[in-house]
Formats: sequence, C-alpha cells, structure tokens
Amino acid sequence: MVKKNMLSRLTKYPTPLYFYDLQLLDQTLKDAVDAAQPYSYHIHFAVKANNNDRILESIQRHGMGADCVSGNEIREALKRGFPANKIVFAGVGKTDNEIKLGLETDIFAFNCESLQEINVINDLAGSMGKKARIFLRLNPDVEAHTHKNITTGKAENKFGINATDTDIFLTLKKDFKNVEFVGLHFHIGSQICDFEVFKNLSLKVNEIQDLFESKGEKIKYLNLGGGLGINYADPQQNPIPDFAGYFETFHKYLKLRPGQEVHFELGRALVAQCGTLLSRVLYIKPGVRNQFAIIDASMTDLLRPALYEAQHRIENLSSEAAEKKTYDVAGPVCESSDVFARNILLEETRRGDFLAIYSTGAYGQVMSSLYNMRDPATTIYSDEVE
Ligand code: LLP
Repeated sequence: MVKKNMLSRLTKYPTPLYFYDLQLLDQTLKDAVDAAQPYSYHIHFAVKANNNDRILESIQRHGMGADCVSGNEIREALKRGFPANKIVFAGVGKTDNEIKLGLETDIFAFNCESLQEINVINDLAGSMGKKARIFLRLNPDVEAHTHKNITTGKAENKFGINATDTDIFLTLKKDFKNVEFVGLHFHIGSQICDFEVFKNLSLKVNEIQDLFESKGEKIKYLNLGGGLGINYADPQQNPIPDFAGYFETFHKYLKLRPGQEVHFELGRALVAQCGTLLSRVLYIKPGVRNQFAIIDASMTDLLRPALYEAQHRIENLSSEAAEKKTYDVAGPVCESSDVFARNILLEETRRGDFLAIYSTGAYGQVMSSLYNMRDPATTIYSDEVE
C-alpha cells in the first residue's frame, strides 16, 4: 500500500496513476487460499473486479479459478493461464457468440439465470455436439444490508431464478438433453461486512437444498458467490480481510451432503486493497461554501463515489503541514457527481501535491471510461518502481 515515504519514488510518473502493491496482493491471495483449505473450498476470482494482466497472472498462480461475465473475460482468463476447467461463465444476458465460446473452450460451467437462457444453451450445445454443465442461479431473497446498487439477492432484483420453483427440473429433464445440471449458484450482493448475512444465506441454502432433495434432485456443487467486504474507512489498519471468519461462517451453518463441493467467487476482497489511485492537485479553489481540491483524477478513473456514494480514504502524501483543513476533493469532469469526498480533513494542500485514494484495486480501473475524451490512467506495479 502506498505510504508517504514512497513519494520521492513516485513523483516522476504521470498522474492519474493506478499503483498496485503486488506483495500485498500475494499475501492476500495466500491468506484466502489458506483459509479455504481446511474445508476444501474452491475460490474463483470474479474477473470483473480487476482484469489487469499481472493481477490475473498472480491470482492464477495461487491456483484459483475464474468467474467470468463476458466472452472477452473468458478469453483473457485463458490467456492469463487459468485452465478452462476452472472457468465459470455467469451473467443474465449471455449472447449466442459468448455461449459458443464457452462451449468451444470447454469451460467448467455456465451459471444460468433463466429457462430462456438454458433453452439457448441447450440448442447451441446440441448443434455443436456438446453437453453443457450448468448451475442454476437462484434468487434466495436474502437481505444483504449493503448499498442498493450492489444488492442482488432480493426478490425484486433481476438476478437468478425463483428459489421455490422446483418445477424447473422437470422442464430441464424433459426438454433439455444437451445440458447437465450440476449445481446451485447464489450471489446476494457485494461489500458485505456483517457475517450474519452469510449465516442467513447458508440457512436459506439449507432450506432450498432440502426442498430440492425432497423432489429427488441431487446437487453436486454449491456456489455461494462472492460479496465479502473490505475496510474502506481504514485500509491500513487491516488490509487483509477476515477470510478465516468468512469461510468459517459457511462451514458452521451450511449443511453439506457427502461429497458435495463448495465454490466461492470473490472479487473485491482479493484485490481492492492492493490498488491505490494517485493523483496530483491541480487547483485549490475557494468555493462559495466549501474549499475544493480539484485533482487530475476523475470519475472516469474511479466511478465508485459517483455511482454508489462510496467513500475511499484519501491522504495527502506531499504535505508536511501540521495543520489540517477541510476540503471537497473533486475531479475535472463536467458532472456535479465528479466528487471523491466532501468535507474531509487533509493536511494543508497545495497545487502539485500528490493525493492517494486508497482501496481502488477492485472495481476501479475496470470501470473507467473515456468520457470527456480523457486519457486513461496509467498503471504501475510495485516491482516496477525504481
Ligand atoms: N459473483 C457474482 C455473480 C457477482 O455478480 C459478483 C459481483 C461477484 C461474484 C463478486 O462479488 P465481490 O466478491 O466482488 O463482492 N461495482 C460494484 C460492485 C459490483 C459487484 C458486481 N457483482 C462496486 O464497485 O462496489
């Protein structure tokens, strides 16, 4: 993680700049794998959180699989060394070409969200002489207690199939000969820090399993999705999330059947803290009410504050001033929501100062855009800094 004492080595790089701490990434991945190991849980990395080549290569080296949501993510995962039999393909709107790619490359499974989609997968698999392994993504109607824009497992969300709809298996067996049902998939939301939510998910999954079993269905794999949150308020305090507590919660409450294999799809928890967005202050602008620090990074580099009211910790790496002042930290884009923080205290800040915006390794660079014809941020990895 970027600290003040690294500043002299970073000022030669252009900003905005995404800095990735590969050592922290490595330690985080190791901790996650070690925490999953006692229960033989399998982890797939949610590529949507960060698809940088070196990040994917590190994750692949730790033996994790890949959870992809587009054909291009499948291609990239294969290119970075993830074996096809550890790739799952999810998403509520897979195109025919993307499904064909998954079938051609023999990925492990498709996480399916509707009978309409399974129908298409069945037809395409048939025309290619293949059988597709599928998970049914069920909507368990469990409250995730997170921001509404990243809640996915409530009845009103577009994701998944109604968890009480056991008739679906009759249709699967009767009409779809080219798909093999292998498991159930759940994902109820993201940035979940309250383990009680994962307990509730486990208990709901137990009920659903009982119901499906009572209809004679065997479930070989369970995929519980991702969602483990991180500490945005104080990233330095404890940069590695509590993977042990997370997996232990599932171990304690999930009722597994003999031989059943459990998968997870973590994104944020694995990569968020290794990334820091660095930006230079362009102007200190006295506003009508507030004092603005206008910086050279914007919502095109990090959309999370504008989209989810996310608060990332920000520090001034350059200033040695004893006094702290209040600032609104804003980007240059012509949108009122292009603001990273309001009313935060920073050491007295001047034009040219370097600001660090922490916890940006997940859903940061991947969500960037070229709006206002801005240049994309540059990237640097910790082992490249001289
Ligand atoms: N599995 C599925 C089916 C998902 O939809 C997601 C994330 C994950 C796994 C990984 O979840 P994670 O472990 O990262 O929470 N852009 C938002 C987050 C969107 C999450 C989308 N789905 C943000 O910046 O907060």
